[in-house]
Amino acid sequence: MTTTHNIDPTRVPKHVACVMDGNGRWAQLRGLKRTDGHAAGEEALLETVYASIDLGIDWLTVYAFSTENWKRPVSEVRFLMRLNEMILVRHIDELDEKNVRLRFMGRRDRRVPSRLTKEIDRAVERTKNNTGLTLTFAFNYGGRAELIDGIKRMIDDGISSDSIDEKQVQRYLYYPDMPDPDLCIRTSGEFRISNFLMWELAYSELVFTDLLWPDFGRAPLYEAIVTYQSRDRRFGKIATSAPPPPAPIDLRTPVATR
Ligand code: FPP
Repeated sequence: MTTTHNIDPTRVPKHVACVMDGNGRWAQLRGLKRTDGHAAGEEALLETVYASIDLGIDWLTVYAFSTENWKRPVSEVRFLMRLNEMILVRHIDELDEKNVRLRFMGRRDRRVPSRLTKEIDRAVERTKNNTGLTLTFAFNYGGRAELIDGIKRMIDDGISSDSIDEKQVQRYLYYPDMPDPDLCIRTSGEFRISNFLMWELAYSELVFTDLLWPDFGRAPLYEAIVTYQSRDRRFGKIATSAPPPPAPIDLRTPVATR
C-alpha cells in the first residue's frame, strides 16, 4: 500500500484537481440506486480532503456538478443539489476547524435551489479568512462557460484586443488567484477532461485510475501523487536531466542492421 513514506515531501503538488467520476457505476455493481453511489462518494471526498490537508496540499478543486449535468434525470439532479447542501451542513464545522477555505466556482443559476445557494454563500463567507487548504467545488461549472463568461466581462469592461494576453485572461477567470492544478486525477477509467478547467489544466499532469470515486480516498491519492512525482514536467522546455540525444542514424545503412 502506498503511504506518505513513498512521497517526496518537497515535491508535493500545490494544487490537485479531481473529477469525481463513477458513483453511478459503483452503485450499479452493488445493485443499488445511482444516488446511493453519490452518497457513498461523500465519504471518499472527505477522506481526500483530510489526506490533502495532512500532505500539505494548498489547493484541492473537485468537479461536483457540471453545466452539462442538468441533462441527467431530474430526480438525480435534485439529489445532487441536496447532497451538496448536506455536505456543507454536515461538515462545515469540521472544515472550518481545520482552517479550510471553501470556495465555489461556476455559474449562478436560478435552477439551483435557494437553500443551497444560501448555504454556499454562508460557507464561503464563514471560511474566507482561513489560511489552510482552499477547497473549491466546481459547481454548475464548465470550462467553456468560464471562458465565455470571462470574454463577456472583458468586452463589458472595454478591454482592448491589444491588451489581451495570458495574464489578462487569467484576471477574468472565476478565481484569478487560483494557481493552475499541478495534478488532475480522474477516477472510473475514463480518459476525458469533460469540460473541467479547460484553461487551467493546460500543463497539468493527468492521472487516470480505474477506481470508482467511492473507492477513492487517502491511499489512492498518495498513489496518484507518487505517479505525479515520477513525471517529468517540461512546460515546453527540454528536460533538465535530459538523456543525451541519440546518435544520428546513417540512412544509407539497411534498417535491419542499424
Ligand atoms: C464529469 O463527467 C464528471 C463530473 C462533472 C463529476 C460529477 C460528479 C458528481 C455528479 C458526483 C459528485 C459527488 C459528490 C460527493 C458531491 P460527466 O459525466 O459530467 O461527463 P462525461 O459525460 O464526459 O463522462
